[in-house]
Amino acid sequence: MQQQKGDWHMALSIKPEHPDITEQMWVDIDQIIADHRNTPGAVITVLRMSQDVVGYLPLEMIDYISYGLNLPRSSVYGVASFYSLFSFVPKGRHVIKICMGTACYVKGIKEVMDRISYTFKVAEGETSEDRRFSLESVRCLGACGLAPVIVIGHDTLGDVKSDKIIDILENYQ
Ligand code: FES
Repeated sequence: MQQQKGDWHMALSIKPEHPDITEQMWVDIDQIIADHRNTPGAVITVLRMSQDVVGYLPLEMIDYISYGLNLPRSSVYGVASFYSLFSFVPKGRHVIKICMGTACYVKGIKEVMDRISYTFKVAEGETSEDRRFSLESVRCLGACGLAPVIVIGHDTLGDVKSDKIIDILENYQ
């Protein structure tokens, strides 16, 4: 028998305890599930939107989403582990993507990366201890004319200079 909307709302009224998921976040996640639970193939969308809410995908949240979408945990987990856009570990409040493509490399992006890494004590592929920044390297961002390029959250910055980047990042608390 198919779950009715009321059933799953009732079943999901007890939220798993998780230090990174606030009450309001659970409300938002419930809404995301409610909006998509009758749409076939919506699991990627639900995972992406839920990750936007929390910043990453705690396993407790994957269980919750599985139940909400009425899908086996293994298939939701399988999707989440297949795509690199999903993360099971907490990300920083600001994700910095550094373009290591040829045009950016030639124009000195490595120095920019080293300066950020040294100043904020965050290695490539990791998150600073205070969870302020996550540092990721990517291949060509498709904006070679602006090289060297970095993306901070939703902001794309071109012609980035290693002696200016720290001042710029101070605006991202
Ligand atoms: S190489 Fe960096 S944007 Fe293309």
